[in-house]
Amino acid sequence: MRGRLLVLEGGEGVGKTTQLRRLAARLARAAVPHRVLREPGGTPLGDRIRELLLHTDGPMAAGAEAALFIASRAQLVEQEVGPALGRGEHVLLDRFLLSTYAYQAYGRGLPEDEVRAANRLATRGLVPDLTLLLTLAPADGLARAGARGGHDRIEAADAAFHERVAAAFARFADPAWQAGHPECGRIVAVDAAGDEEAVESRLAAVLARELPMLRPAGPLA
Ligand SMILES: Nc1ncnc2c1ncn2[C@@H]1O[C@H](COP(=O)(O)OP(=O)(O)OP(=O)(O)O)[C@@H](O)[C@H]1O
Ligand SMILES: [Mg+2]
Repeated sequence: MRGRLLVLEGGEGVGKTTQLRRLAARLARAAVPHRVLREPGGTPLGDRIRELLLHTDGPMAAGAEAALFIASRAQLVEQEVGPALGRGEHVLLDRFLLSTYAYQAYGRGLPEDEVRAANRLATRGLVPDLTLLLTLAPADGLARAGARGGHDRIEAADAAFHERVAAAFARFADPAWQAGHPECGRIVAVDAAGDEEAVESRLAAVLARELPMLRPAGPLA
């Protein structure tokens, strides 16, 4: 059986990485084969691109930034995600298509149709089985990320940029937006407020309903 592609999305500091670790631990306890991957990065080439994206000091044109994200994605899909799914492993992915729409289209202002076309270069038609969109007031997400210490190049962008990104993520929860973006697959918004255990329980409940083959709420969970 082909594995399933599960994506976690949402703005800065909402808890994507934290919750992916928790979901992966559940899968590991239930001996469900899986991979945890992140964007940008996840491959040797992608990790070098990640460094450029997060830690370049000089200016970076919006088109250059988008192309770097797409390049990292193309490598990840071809080298890691596709083969893992083909082997029957489930893939848990930290950010994917929605982040490009939020940051590069809505945030940086690149035309959405161009971002979409560029994404096709990377995904080659791969559609996530489910995207869990963690929703949190942007100030709370930035506070969580800030408590973690240090700001990368994108976190350090101005407040108006982060407001556009947050507004974009809020739009993605809208079924009308999703109907117009079938390349993103099914998206379910999950409230990311509260402590880590509370958020994990919400995610597990959605997963049990939407992707029961991941068995997140199984006997060992
Ligand atoms: N439910 C929670 N309540 C309070 N703090 C949390 C919660 N979940 C995660 N955190 C903490 O908030 C910070 C950001 O969490 P995390 O790194 O998982 O977010 P992220 O969505 O992956 O962020 P980024 O977009 O920057 O990658 C971390 O220090 C983490 O320990
Ligand atoms: Mg993270």
